[in-house]
Amino acid sequence: MKADNDLYRTLRDKACAILWKEDVAAFDRAVEPERSRLVAVIRAVGVAFADRGTLAEKAQAVTWLNSLLKDPSEKVRRYAMAALPKLGDDTQAEAKLLDILAAPAGERERQKVVEALEKIGGEATLEAALKDPSTVSVAPDRVAARIARLTEPGEISLDRVLARPSGVRIHLHCRKGLERILADEARALVKEIFEVKSVMSGLVVLEPLKPFSLGDVYQLRCFAQVGFVLGDVRAQSPEEAINPIALRIASNRTRDLLAAFTDGAFRYRIEMDPALGDAELVRKIGAEVHRFDPKILNDPRESPWSVDVFAAPGGASVELRPRLSPDPRLGYRLGEVAAGSHPPLAAAMARLAGSYVGEVAWDPFCGSGIELIERAMLGGASRVIGTDLSAEAVEIARKNFEAAAV
Ligand SMILES: C[S@@+](CC[C@H](N)C(=O)[O-])C[C@H]1O[C@@H](n2cnc3c(N)ncnc32)[C@H](O)[C@@H]1O
Repeated sequence: MKADNDLYRTLRDKACAILWKEDVAAFDRAVEPERSRLVAVIRAVGVAFADRGTLAEKAQAVTWLNSLLKDPSEKVRRYAMAALPKLGDDTQAEAKLLDILAAPAGERERQKVVEALEKIGGEATLEAALKDPSTVSVAPDRVAARIARLTEPGEISLDRVLARPSGVRIHLHCRKGLERILADEARALVKEIFEVKSVMSGLVVLEPLKPFSLGDVYQLRCFAQVGFVLGDVRAQSPEEAINPIALRIASNRTRDLLAAFTDGAFRYRIEMDPALGDAELVRKIGAEVHRFDPKILNDPRESPWSVDVFAAPGGASVELRPRLSPDPRLGYRLGEVAAGSHPPLAAAMARLAGSYVGEVAWDPFCGSGIELIERAMLGGASRVIGTDLSAEAVEIARKNFEAAAV
């Protein structure tokens, strides 16, 4: 293993053409036991070609790796299985991997095939996993999520409206100390839509008074993150928490929120408090959710939603959070300076400073201009002026102002 790693390190940074001409050729010429000693070449091809190969080189590598799936050496096959997913989708490989899974050489090979199929499997894998889960023990939720990511990834809409908001609770998370400013902002800007129910450390709780969109929530500028409450669970151990957390995620509440605010598939990732559980727990919860509702898909990659599981007294609390990146409130932020302000803090400072109609606001250390832009957005100022020792900062601020169009 150490020898494999050492060889891999000497190969991974080589140019693809050289790797191909020298090392792949040497591997192909070698016979056992030399061949098994050179498996690091396979790993290096997966990494180097995925990273820097041209389209033609990638195709060449995929064909070679596919041929290795039929190699008599179990070790060579395992290395090929690990390398193939790095180079993307491959229906040829999927069919071969499913064949190997029907009669693997041993537990280690079986495990590697499952891992590879969870990364590149498509409809054929999903069908096999649902038909014969004891042989094809690939997590169907992972494969279904992957298929959805490729075919209808789903994105969050700021404009779509949740028509039946009764019972929904919204948690606006903010930096400690900003709660009152945030609550005042909500009372000032969206009091027709949301009621401020409570103000706690780092948290303002809202309840909708009528149908609303995420765009309504994102009118507020002083919060850092927004979450919809899915509920608390009581559990003595991580294992005990799986079922109740999965039930919260597969609930009518979650489905209503996802259906209202998502265009496309319902994909989420689980952000688990490390004090509560690890990746294995996350996997088990995702599988359980999929069993309850196959449309709600746990996908750690590029998911539009996250389900955040926080430690709470006696168990955990669960929230559904839109993962909007970039933050729709910060479209103007074309440039930043070192030690720039946290944007919700800048918005809170602009509110805290108060405002007089017709006033002139001056920031003598304006940096990227964010506080002044937030001040201008509040309205009423006759002029805002930014100065800074750094000409570069002034230029960044100028561009940000132009983009903000305030
Ligand atoms: C912490 S940054 C401001 C960041 C700003 N709030 C933002 O988020 O972009 C401080 C800024 O003060 C400027 N600065 C430092 N000393 C200064 C001085 N004596 N006169 C004017 N500007 C100064 C720096 O160039 C820097 O852009």
